[in-house]
Amino acid sequence: TGHVTLDPGFTNTASTTSAITYIDGDAGILRYRGYPIDQLAEKSSFLEVAYLLIHGDLPTHAELENFTDNIRRHTLLDEKFRAFFSAFPRRAHPMAVLSSAVSALSTFYQDSLDPFDAEQVERSSIRLIAKLPTIAAYAYKTSIGQPLLYPDNSLGYVENFLRMTFGLPTEKYEVDPEIVRILDMLFVLHADHEQNCSTSTVRLVGSSHANLFSSISAGVDALFGPLHGGANQAVLEMLEQIHTNGDDVESFVRRVKNKEPGVKLMGFGHRVYKNYDPRAAVVKKATRKALELLGKPDPLLDLAVRLEEVALSDDYFVERKLYPNVDFYTGVIYKAMGFPTNAFTVLFALGRLPGWIAQWREMMSDPSTKIGRPRQVYVGKTERPYVDINSR
Ligand code: CMC
Repeated sequence: TGHVTLDPGFTNTASTTSAITYIDGDAGILRYRGYPIDQLAEKSSFLEVAYLLIHGDLPTHAELENFTDNIRRHTLLDEKFRAFFSAFPRRAHPMAVLSSAVSALSTFYQDSLDPFDAEQVERSSIRLIAKLPTIAAYAYKTSIGQPLLYPDNSLGYVENFLRMTFGLPTEKYEVDPEIVRILDMLFVLHADHEQNCSTSTVRLVGSSHANLFSSISAGVDALFGPLHGGANQAVLEMLEQIHTNGDDVESFVRRVKNKEPGVKLMGFGHRVYKNYDPRAAVVKKATRKALELLGKPDPLLDLAVRLEEVALSDDYFVERKLYPNVDFYTGVIYKAMGFPTNAFTVLFALGRLPGWIAQWREMMSDPSTKIGRPRQVYVGKTERPYVDINSR
């Protein structure tokens, strides 16, 4: 037993050492494996970053080619797995479908479940990265009643995902390469964020030696919540609501400050950043560009910009060091690309996947890892005599 320290929400307790992602929340710095996030966002592709997170260094041409090729060969789902999607109700939330499907991967791919077999771990990692876009697209297609498309492996990772999502078997799918590049870049921005709620969940589940698929499925569920990945959906719903009510930003901010139940400035604030989230800065710039490229101006963007201005000049937000986080502007881009609001968090999951995998692998290969098992401070009844049911 001994002495335990109480730290609700782990605001002050490190659960692990890690060599993957560095955040300095006061300075607004984020680096993957030492590389500043803005440079990776500008110069690297998502698969390059996935390789970097998992293997520790940026890939050479040959390494990237091999990695990409491997992923390309695993994009198909077992035919029985395709049928699995038809069992969900039409209105199912795609995040619930996603976590169920990821969990089901361990029923279909039983030859890659051993967490201590390096070859199997590599195979399950590749399978996850290859199949998640297919699963995400099928969840969406099922929800709108359209036919499922097979992956087209002549396309790049993100373009293939967009085609499976928005394409039809009767038409040739075409998309502006600059739009593909923007979505790829958004995935880079989401790819890891050290010990956040979903990543800690992946580690905790994995620490019991559960397989990679099960661990990642738990991470998807943790990401679902509106205080975490679900915030991107919540931000767009908030913007739409303010817009419907006449764009009265000031009165909305007043309600936030008065702490009206259920009213928060979604997309603002962060446990670690007490400065502008460096990812939000990149997204903000990309938003205008994406809307221009798509020819879809959106009053919600101007509304978001105004909301940010009002909040950042208000004492409530200044004193608490609340700044826009990564989720504040992404929804406006996703909406312009044609994604329904309830698919936004799935896009976060696609981006975060390599980080979850890298963190799980880092943990499993560290011989000092123990099962995650927090302690508690008991505040219930002390011992009392048992009362027979007839005397209660
Ligand atoms: N709107 C209004 N007030 C806020 C907000 C907000 N978005 N965020 C924090 N505060 C207030 C909070 O009420 C508290 O005030 P007081 O000291 O008067 O009680 C103070 O700021 C500190 O907040 P906290 O809740 O103790 O901070 P936390 O570290 O526990 O929570 C957070 C961090 C991200 C959950 C929270 O800021 C929040 O709920 N934000 C809105 C949801 C959101 O955008 N989440 C996405 C996070 S970034 C990407 C991701 O992880 O998915």
